[in-house]
Amino acid sequence: MISTPSKPATSEAFSREDWRRGYQTQSEEASYWVDDITGQIPPELSGTLFRNGPGTMDVGGDRFHHPFDGDGMICAFTFVDGKVFFRNRYVRTPGFIAEQEAGKILYRGVFGTQKPGGFLSNAMDLKLKNIANTGVHYWGEKLMALWEAAEPYGLEPVNLETLGPEYLDGLLKAGQAFSAHPRIDPGSTRTGGKRRFVNFGVKTGLSSAINIYEFEEDGSLATQQTRNVPGFAFLHDFVITENYYVFFQNPVKFNPLPFVFGQKGAAQCLEFDPKGKTQMLVIPRDAAQPVQRFETESCFVFHHANAFETAGAFEQDGKLIVDSICYPSFPSVEPGEDFMETVFEDVPPGQLFRFTADLSQGNVTREEISLRPCEFPSLHPAKVGKDARYYYIGCVIDPNIANAPLQSIIKLDLQGEPKTWTAAPRGFISEPLFVSRNPSDVNAAEDDGWVLCLIYNAARHASDLVILNAQDLQEVARVNLKQHIPYGLHGSFTVETFGITA
Ligand code: CO
Repeated sequence: MISTPSKPATSEAFSREDWRRGYQTQSEEASYWVDDITGQIPPELSGTLFRNGPGTMDVGGDRFHHPFDGDGMICAFTFVDGKVFFRNRYVRTPGFIAEQEAGKILYRGVFGTQKPGGFLSNAMDLKLKNIANTGVHYWGEKLMALWEAAEPYGLEPVNLETLGPEYLDGLLKAGQAFSAHPRIDPGSTRTGGKRRFVNFGVKTGLSSAINIYEFEEDGSLATQQTRNVPGFAFLHDFVITENYYVFFQNPVKFNPLPFVFGQKGAAQCLEFDPKGKTQMLVIPRDAAQPVQRFETESCFVFHHANAFETAGAFEQDGKLIVDSICYPSFPSVEPGEDFMETVFEDVPPGQLFRFTADLSQGNVTREEISLRPCEFPSLHPAKVGKDARYYYIGCVIDPNIANAPLQSIIKLDLQGEPKTWTAAPRGFISEPLFVSRNPSDVNAAEDDGWVLCLIYNAARHASDLVILNAQDLQEVARVNLKQHIPYGLHGSFTVETFGITA
């Protein structure tokens, strides 16, 4: 049995009022060169950081039940010659436009938001509002806002104007799932040394069909395959290696009736089975090879950090290694609960584990890497699918704390001691992202670069983009925005500056 931290969060660690204000709806859209900068932005940092996350927490004062139900708002930071140009804009999905015009909630949310009027006005209404709020990626000269249950939205990269639903040259149908967690394959002999954008979409029910796509650098489709697996599958994220795609099928059951009858959101109908087994689905990138399934102890996984094969995973002694953030159960906000009143000690903590699958023996073992509650893992982009030494992850301020808001960043060194940086007591962090100083230098150290992280700074009720030196995790610069950005989800970095000049 795993030992879990048990220390309660103390009231001095953070103010709940501070934490709550970071969720306030941001209704302003802005575009400006940031002139309030502490320290110095490294002039060699060149490119654009895109971030996505729910920007609304309410419509016309009616609160969403869960922050994940908020509308996608994109932020972009373009770095040129030590300067930074910022802009933020909502994704104009039809649902967003309709609700803003009506000034009230018109759609039910996956995570429990209900229309006003109780269950009678929600029953039998199974329409989904594409909120485009989870990820954002630039690939093949397209900027896309991603939400896993439907098609992405295309955006114009400089002014973030919404171009409309993106069907990827007819690959996707209206409403077809396309995950918010693509993996960028840095390239291997399989891809001819070229990078690829790898993503999936799942259609689930009593059994599940997983569509997996790989796109070339120019956006054209390189490969596509569909695999059918038994059982309901809640698949938020996946990992890739040179030869495999790996998914974790969490031990959850789905009973849609409370959703259909207007009592619960779809995600609130997931029932976690603590006695069940988590299934590791190992899907060969070679579509002619069969899927392998491995069982491991019950846990719930949203995010993986990375995966890799040890030398000759196809051989007798080869292994497949997957590092994932595991929760002892599914953290949901039930009807009648208010997430603003979250008792952090009672929320299951995410902890980093290493799973080792022996493909020839058909078994998996797992061991803990770090029990410190954490989320949002990141690594050097060239190490995706390969044996990485460093991870940069959001975490709680004290390794022994049971659970708390993310206020620190940990650099885990799988060969040495971790380093941490903290935004506490009044800063709350989002996903840290590693950016390489010189992506084309194959001899550069794995941690030669920066960690970019957008923090909510309650002292100013505004957000700061913090730039840390990835080697020692010391703060290099801080970009002080004029406004706050509500706690976000995922982002990505591209070396493109889109013609923006300082
Ligand atoms: Co995610």
